[in-house]
Amino acid sequence: MAQKPDFKGLKMIHGADYCPEQWLDMPEVLEKDIEYMKETGVNCVSLGMFAWVTLEPQEGVYQFEWLKDIMDKLYENGIYTCLATPSAARPAWLAKKYPEVLRVSSDMTRNMMGGRHNHCYTSPVYRQKIKEISVKLSQQFGSHPGVILWHLSNEYGGDCFCPLCQEEFRKWVKNKYKTLDALNTAWWSRFWSHTITDWGLIEAPVPKGEMCIHGLNLDWRRFVTDRTLDFMRHEIASIREGGSKLPVTTNLMTFFYDLNYFKFKDDLDIASWDSYPRWHKFNVSDVETAVYNSCFHDIIRSIKQMPFLLMESTPSTTNWMSISKVKKPGMHELSSLSAVAHGSDSVQYFQWRKSRGSVEKFHGAVVSHDGRNDTRVFKDVERVGERLKHLGGLCGSMPKPQVAIIYDWENRWAVQDTKGPRNIGMGYDDTIVSHYWGFWAMGVPVDFIDMECDLSGYDLIVAPMLYMYRNGIELKLRDFVERGGTLVGSCFQGLVDETDLCYLGDTPYGMTDVYGIRYEEIDGLYDGETNAMEYGGKTYTLKNLCERIHPSTAKTLAVYQKDFYAGEPVLTENSFGKGKAYYIASQPVQEFMHDFYRELVMANGIKPALDAVLPQGVTATRRIGDIEVAIIQNYNPSPVSISLRKSAKDYETGEAYEGELRLEPYGVKFLVV
Ligand code: GLA
Ligand code: ZN
Repeated sequence: MAQKPDFKGLKMIHGADYCPEQWLDMPEVLEKDIEYMKETGVNCVSLGMFAWVTLEPQEGVYQFEWLKDIMDKLYENGIYTCLATPSAARPAWLAKKYPEVLRVSSDMTRNMMGGRHNHCYTSPVYRQKIKEISVKLSQQFGSHPGVILWHLSNEYGGDCFCPLCQEEFRKWVKNKYKTLDALNTAWWSRFWSHTITDWGLIEAPVPKGEMCIHGLNLDWRRFVTDRTLDFMRHEIASIREGGSKLPVTTNLMTFFYDLNYFKFKDDLDIASWDSYPRWHKFNVSDVETAVYNSCFHDIIRSIKQMPFLLMESTPSTTNWMSISKVKKPGMHELSSLSAVAHGSDSVQYFQWRKSRGSVEKFHGAVVSHDGRNDTRVFKDVERVGERLKHLGGLCGSMPKPQVAIIYDWENRWAVQDTKGPRNIGMGYDDTIVSHYWGFWAMGVPVDFIDMECDLSGYDLIVAPMLYMYRNGIELKLRDFVERGGTLVGSCFQGLVDETDLCYLGDTPYGMTDVYGIRYEEIDGLYDGETNAMEYGGKTYTLKNLCERIHPSTAKTLAVYQKDFYAGEPVLTENSFGKGKAYYIASQPVQEFMHDFYRELVMANGIKPALDAVLPQGVTATRRIGDIEVAIIQNYNPSPVSISLRKSAKDYETGEAYEGELRLEPYGVKFLVV
């Protein structure tokens, strides 16, 4: 396994996106920034993400002195730099002179200069221009003692439909299928007479064109991932050409649909992401928000199976949600440290200082327009900085989950695209989170894997809504159960292959003997329409989807209570080899996930992060390294108390706890266990 970069010995990173280029004519502001950074314990800033025009005001005319000056000053004050390649937003002169660098959107018109993430990732001109500046940045700053990491672009994403990208897509498809026969079979394109009779006929899927071939839609998403990676590799190669060997990352986004993030694992030296949970929603508990956010922390950590970086988060509010809430007292600390709890070795913000104008001027920042260091937000950030100073010993340590949930981007694309039982939404992500929540509530650590990952080392694997089987997953899962593993599958399972062609014969494909059932048909339920099952003396509501399945060797644990299929199995258990496979043929309410997984966790000897019963809204994680620390997080706006079975010591303060452990509202504690 790859090693986490050591960042010149820097321990927990506390930092922010910093845009001094907006303040170059106000040196007193820049001076204050450094003073304030030191007050908050900020030890690293990200520079240059959106500074291209300040670095290259005219084509080929580079102006790096200002950046050098700032980096020097930061370094003299103990503040390191994470330096960006500036490809996320281009100068107007570049777009004007070379229109091909601008993206063509899915209505097949070329965008105008503006916004960001608006470049073509194929354009040779764009690649050349980003290469020139990146090589120079690398030459100039690659060996600067203050630079610890390259921040590649910013939040890669989006599609380009320009002729250059379409041509690349045709090459990609040809390379994948080799023959038109193979292509047409995989895409089932005789349907509606859409057979591809010449490679030149292939077009990207767009609303005014072809959207009916699911294999094409899937291949387009795979291609866009590959193209984006290819562009990213080009940026990495430019940095290397300039001589820098420093590690690279790029900031990923929550549940981002467009790109298969697992494919980034070999190119990034460390994964990082931008976390903007919607705290304090109206009528939705913070607990639910926390579960979604924790889930994505775990997904990001799982990509490289290595500690990650929280690259951005807001110190207070965002300004792009429909309603922007400030964080209530305590939430900033909890939200920040929960990243550390799930394996982050940093807490970083967008942004250090609010800009004076333009679209993000009211986005939260450590320093607001008043320029004060006695604000509530500033104090919150100071407090996080203080706590991070005591948590350096956790850097590099990791949870060691016995449980893995299969979360596969390609399956996600296929589920979302399919026309079937619930075109108003199959809710793949929500289904994943619903299973995850069962473990979260007990403080049981979870890894996420996709169908290309290794299954060894886990005791329990959950495969929710694994509609597509690819990469021989059915063979890997069989083997896993045969050797003694426990598998839980849920409905809409094993129906299609990697180009969305339905398997012929009984399904779940290749797994009917493992699950001991076969699928016959699936009923879509309207929102609000329900069925029910009784299990373990309780009645649980079922929603969204109800499959009719037929057990062969499986034992029926629960049956449908309503509709014409009342009395037919909905929850089954099958012994296979040394292991067991459960099948959930519908979508039970959350409470079932809590109860069911509690049983499985106990039956399979799976250890929670803390040996205690956690109150509602509280979770625990564990980081294992030279020391083992359990991190208890209370997402309730009220205090809670937890009965400890063993005495524990506070990792930050050394305080000893025995018996009842009290957590403040939104409190978080690190315990040596
Ligand atoms: C993203 C971007 C930042 C900023 C923030 C605002 O994460 O990377 O540049 O726009 O959103 O929340
Ligand atoms: Zn393009």
